[in-house]
Amino acid sequence: MTYSIIGSGKVGSALARQFARSGIPVGIANTRGTQSLAALVNELGEGIVAQSLEQALGADIVILAIPFSAHRDIAEKIADWNNKIVIDAMNTYGVPLEELGGRASTDVIASAFVGARVVKTFNQLPAALLAKDPAQEGGKRVIFVWSRDLDANTSVTQLVDQLGFAPISLGTIDEGGKLLGLGGPLILQNIIRYQ
Ligand SMILES: NC(=O)c1ccc[n+]([C@@H]2O[C@H](COP(=O)([O-])OP(=O)(O)OC[C@H]3O[C@@H](n4cnc5c(N)ncnc54)[C@H](OP(=O)(O)O)[C@@H]3O)[C@@H](O)[C@H]2O)c1
Repeated sequence: MTYSIIGSGKVGSALARQFARSGIPVGIANTRGTQSLAALVNELGEGIVAQSLEQALGADIVILAIPFSAHRDIAEKIADWNNKIVIDAMNTYGVPLEELGGRASTDVIASAFVGARVVKTFNQLPAALLAKDPAQEGGKRVIFVWSRDLDANTSVTQLVDQLGFAPISLGTIDEGGKLLGLGGPLILQNIIRYQ
């Protein structure tokens, strides 16, 4: 399985740090190109690779750590995402509610990324906390995972586990996207699981 992170800001860097900590290779890309990522990838070590956006789109699992308003720029780069897993780590700060049309933001993402299997995760914590060691006080920091696709949900839950977090899968429940969306009850919950 290959992974990439699109966005190298606060969330993208936090996630790259967790891949590095866990020894899982990942590509990382932004709008400014690979040169702008040199300091980050040098700091994190050889498994973390600066990529062009086009290279990043080739990973088996692509993580979106970009402003919600930028998602169409990425979605439009591929006409048919052909079952690729796309992780939505975005929140909808500043996005007018009418733009979502009453839908969970992840469903909006799923309709833009035609043919992709979209999974919501990594959006619940402030980036500074997401960057910290998930092993805490004898337990592990919880990360919620939700998707309408059970297989994609399982793949991403496994990744979250491999990164050292305690994944809690919400499965395919209809409400999952809203539970994890901005203003939902699972947002900003810093939970440690002891098992
Ligand atoms: N910050 C948090 O605590 C937090 C927590 C949970 C979820 N979130 C969500 O996570 C997402 C990222 O937040 P952030 O705080 O990491 O933002 P950020 O620090 O501003 O970083 C945004 C990144 O997205 C990249 N980007 C912007 N437009 C792009 C495009 N069209 N194509 C490719 N890359 C693009 C930027 O590229 P350049 O570097 O080239 O400008 C930058 O690397 C947002 O949806 C936010 O709501 C944030």
